[in-house]
Amino acid sequence: MNKVALITGASSGIGYATAQLLAENGIKVGLFARREQRLKTLAENISKKGGKALILKGDVTKRKDVENAVKEIIKEWSHIDILVNNAGLMPLSFIKNLHIDEWDRMVDVNIKGVLYMSAAVLPYMLKQHSGHIINVSSVAGRRVFPAGAVYCATKYAVRAFSDGLRCELTAQEKIRVTTIEPGIVKTELPNTITDIEIKEPFAKRTAAMRPLQANDIAKSILYAISQPDYADVAEILVIPTDQGT
Ligand SMILES: NC(=O)c1ccc[n+]([C@@H]2O[C@H](COP(=O)([O-])OP(=O)(O)OC[C@H]3O[C@@H](n4cnc5c(N)ncnc54)[C@H](OP(=O)(O)O)[C@@H]3O)[C@@H](O)[C@H]2O)c1
Repeated sequence: MNKVALITGASSGIGYATAQLLAENGIKVGLFARREQRLKTLAENISKKGGKALILKGDVTKRKDVENAVKEIIKEWSHIDILVNNAGLMPLSFIKNLHIDEWDRMVDVNIKGVLYMSAAVLPYMLKQHSGHIINVSSVAGRRVFPAGAVYCATKYAVRAFSDGLRCELTAQEKIRVTTIEPGIVKTELPNTITDIEIKEPFAKRTAAMRPLQANDIAKSILYAISQPDYADVAEILVIPTDQGT
């Protein structure tokens, strides 16, 4: 596929696996995250296998970083076809414990990061009359669970924003929009949990099931990208068989 993609949160988990898989399928990938060393390792792996990758060190909560990353991509490859808004964190906590700094951080990264990145690519996609924005929400964007109120709120917001993008831009501007909604995937995501009342129970619950692997979600993303231009895969909800709901 002769396409160019920008992937946020490419330094680990779902973003890392997605970058690898898209590159294996001939897509040029811009790798965006804060941990540069990890991006370097990934870029080297991609290039050893004959793929093309560009390291874009940055923070999705910083508009300048986001805008510069998109400019870098345009400078290098002159167009942008796919944005995978994947960066996120999940410091679950019970509301009564008032982890307000973590609420702020989730709003900033999980919601505002998605808005900033979308705003940065849209002028190019509008000019091209083509593009594909893929937003990684979650099963938590469909149902709320104890200790997940704020995380779920951010993932509901991502799904709402995706629906809004689709309403305004898909038929009119030929910009496709896909929401990816994974259940539990084995990644570093739970490392951000600090509320001791949920950290242990969450770890026990996930240890009791066979989780999805990051590459399972990468394959869903590739599926959405691989459809013909006239088909927009609006949503993909994938859960571990053991999770059930
Ligand atoms: N794992 C699951 O069970 C699961 C289920 C449903 C949905 N999701 C969603 O999937 C997405 C990816 O999560 P994951 O499971 O792959 O977790 P992960 O392994 O912890 O990856 C999170 C990624 O987000 C990046 N990130 C965090 N804050 C950032 C910031 N301010 N600026 C730029 N990048 C930032 C991290 O990179 P740096 O730290 O290097 O910046 C990292 O690459 C998230 O949106 C998550 O909510 C995950």
